[in-house]
Amino acid sequence: MSSTERTRVLILISGSGTNLQAIIDSQAKGELNIDIVGVISDRPDAYGLQRAAKAHIHTEIIDYKSHKSRKSFDAALTALLTKLHPDLIVLAGYMRILAEATVNAYEGKLLNVHPSLLPAYPGLNTYARALAAGEIWHGSTVHFVVPELDAGPPILQYRVKITANETEAALQARVQQGEYIIYPQAINWFTEGRITYGDGQASVDGKILTKPFIINEIE
Ligand code: GAR
Repeated sequence: MSSTERTRVLILISGSGTNLQAIIDSQAKGELNIDIVGVISDRPDAYGLQRAAKAHIHTEIIDYKSHKSRKSFDAALTALLTKLHPDLIVLAGYMRILAEATVNAYEGKLLNVHPSLLPAYPGLNTYARALAAGEIWHGSTVHFVVPELDAGPPILQYRVKITANETEAALQARVQQGEYIIYPQAINWFTEGRITYGDGQASVDGKILTKPFIINEIE
């Protein structure tokens, strides 16, 4: 890819698509040198599909429920990925675990945003678990994807201080505001060739990241 070419970005969603919207908006402002070549949802009712259509982005649905097996679902996804040949796959609230072969085929070209300060709280229900544990900090992480769930090297984190009597919904809203900052930022770094992946580690400007960059919520 030459420096004048735009990075072909494919975005996978399962739900509301507010992160997708943040990426669309960032691109519309001229902040990202990308072509969003498609949005794929594993759920036909994902609201993010409407956001994509409104922005005239090609959409595809691979309805998990209409596939007889995991194998047939994975084959359909692989065929779509081959057709759209992205330079970068962005998981934006995509709630299905990718097959190991898919992750390996796109090694170093797969980003995810996860609502916790990884390696803390991989998996589901991160807000409730952080609150129940009496954590002081919570947040969100953009990381390269590896086959093990939420275990890939973190690149950028957005961190918020949990307030007294904070509800799950309030905490989620604050953390998500940060995702709309760190995800476009990480995508921008990727398009500029600043972030790379190798041997299980992320590098920025050629230097291995031993810990992610942290952006704190302004209180
Ligand atoms: C995001 O907040 C993201 O952190 C989370 O899903 C939300 C999707 O929201 N992702 C995960 O939990 C992945 N394990 P959105 O559809 O409005 O972007």
